[in-house]
Amino acid sequence: TPATITDRRRVLVAKPRGYCAGVDRAVEAVERALAQYGAPIYVRKQIVHNTFVVKTLEERGAIFVDETEEVPEGAIVVFSAHGVSPAVHQEAAQRSLKTIDATCPLVTKVHNEAKRFAAQDYDILLIGHEGHEEVEGTAGEAPDHVRLVDGLDGVETVEVRDPSKVVWLSQTTLSVDETTETVTRLKNRFPDLIDPPSDDICYATSNRQTAVKEIAAEAQLVIVVGSSNSSNSKRLVEVALDYGADASYLVDDATFVDPAWLDGVTTVGVTSGASVPEVLVEGVLAKLAAHGFGDVEEIESVTEKMRFALPHELRKDLRA
Ligand code: F3S
Repeated sequence: TPATITDRRRVLVAKPRGYCAGVDRAVEAVERALAQYGAPIYVRKQIVHNTFVVKTLEERGAIFVDETEEVPEGAIVVFSAHGVSPAVHQEAAQRSLKTIDATCPLVTKVHNEAKRFAAQDYDILLIGHEGHEEVEGTAGEAPDHVRLVDGLDGVETVEVRDPSKVVWLSQTTLSVDETTETVTRLKNRFPDLIDPPSDDICYATSNRQTAVKEIAAEAQLVIVVGSSNSSNSKRLVEVALDYGADASYLVDDATFVDPAWLDGVTTVGVTSGASVPEVLVEGVLAKLAAHGFGDVEEIESVTEKMRFALPHELRKDLRA
């Protein structure tokens, strides 16, 4: 009977999902800077790749710019969580800007690896997405040594100076499985390729993928809340499809959820990218409930406790 079908409808919500420690810190840095110094606070690039977050901060007095030269001399500028190259720090110094660097410490870690291997004259195979801000920042630490490998397609074409002196590094927000495959193929081409000292794909990226795998195995449809320029959010859609979901969609918020997706579906999975505030997930859950999917269960795969201190430039002024 129809009643039985209704009873079987459920939603599985992945945990962990949403804000990682680096996003939490970057967003709070802009909020605290607004409170401490007053508007406007300039932010170079989107502080994190989420449309709602950017709009909310804009309403409170943040001004987002693409390049440092758009910031008036002497003003305050926040660098985004994705990191910047040394050239951007130099431009800011030339314009006498007061900078607050909200680069995620786990991105800074990759920058430091790039600097160290470049100083030892290694060729660095940086696995990442061409044009992504994080990749531009990391590559900018050692432009003469970094060779970008954009996924599996890049493996066969990348050229190095000395195949016996190569290391790979990666963007922090890639697919764990695809990166493993990329590295395997790179090692076929370059048997002496060495691994980074520790994982470059961050804990938040890998935990969100682990969590979505678990719900995708049981759900016909997986809704990922996240913006279309968010690398880690897009990877969640791919992982959901690889791990058993018949369909998976990336949505900025509930308004993008099409009720037609629910036809014939009994289990819906929901998760969100590392730059996504929980209020947007709540909106999606409310819409699903309105369409008969009010039975919600959270499936926790990994416990997260990571926290990062605010950028030190800001902490100093907050203390004063
Ligand atoms: Fe940092 Fe990973 Fe978040 S690199 S900003 S903790 S997605």
